[in-house]
Amino acid sequence: MHFDIITCQPDLLSGPFSHSIMKRSQDKGLVSLELHDIRDYGLGKHRQIDDYQYGGGAGMVMMVEPLSNCIEHLQKERDYDEIIFLTPDGETLNQSTVNRLSLQHNIMLICGHYKGIDERIREEYVTMELSIGDYVLSGGELPAAVLVDSISRVIPGVLNDGSSALSDSHQDGLLSAPVYTRPSDYRGWKVPEVLLSGNDRAIETWRRDQSLERTKIRRPDLLNDQ
Ligand code: ADE
Repeated sequence: MHFDIITCQPDLLSGPFSHSIMKRSQDKGLVSLELHDIRDYGLGKHRQIDDYQYGGGAGMVMMVEPLSNCIEHLQKERDYDEIIFLTPDGETLNQSTVNRLSLQHNIMLICGHYKGIDERIREEYVTMELSIGDYVLSGGELPAAVLVDSISRVIPGVLNDGSSALSDSHQDGLLSAPVYTRPSDYRGWKVPEVLLSGNDRAIETWRRDQSLERTKIRRPDLLNDQ
C-alpha cells in the first residue's frame, strides 16, 4: 500500500510515521509513504500557495495552481485508487471505510489548511472527502496521520499478532471487552475469574457478553446501525 501525502507542513507528519506500528509497517515493506511539500509547487519568488478568497471573508485559501501541479506531477508516476481530501465537511471516517481502503494500492491524501482549498481541486481531482469527527482542526495533517495509522494496522502482516486488529473495538460493530494483565490480584482488585479459568469457550462467551453490554451502555447508536 502506498500513500502520497500533499501537505504544507511535512514536519507535522514526519513524527507520527517514524514510530511504532507506522514505522514497522514501512520497515516490513508493507506500507510506503511519501510526503510532498506543496510549497515546492508554490508560485513566484515567495513560493505562494494561498491567497485571499473571492467575495471577501476571513482566512486564506490554498490556491488551485500549486495543488493542481503537485497532483498532476504525482499522477504521472502512479494511478491512484483514491484521491482523498481531509476536511471536516467530509464523510465521517469509520472502521468499515478503513477496512475498504486497506484493500487499495495507491492512495493520495490532500491536507488542507487555512480556510480551505480552492473548490476546483475538489471538483476536478478529489474522489473522496473524509472527516475524522465533527470538530475543526488547524489542518488535515493530523487527520491524515489518523487515517494512515488506521489503514496500516489492518493490513495483514503489519501487526505482529494478525488476529489482534480483528478484535479491536468497532471491527465487528461493537466496542471491545475489557482486558487485564498480571497480577491477577492488585490491592484486592481482582481479574474476573473466568479469564483465569483456561476455558476458551467460557472466555469467548464472557468477552462477547461484555462487548455487547459495553456497547449498549456507551454507544447504543452502534447497535442501531446493525
Ligand atoms: N481538517 C480540519 N478538521 C478536520 C477534521 N475534523 N477531519 C478531517 N480533516 C480536517
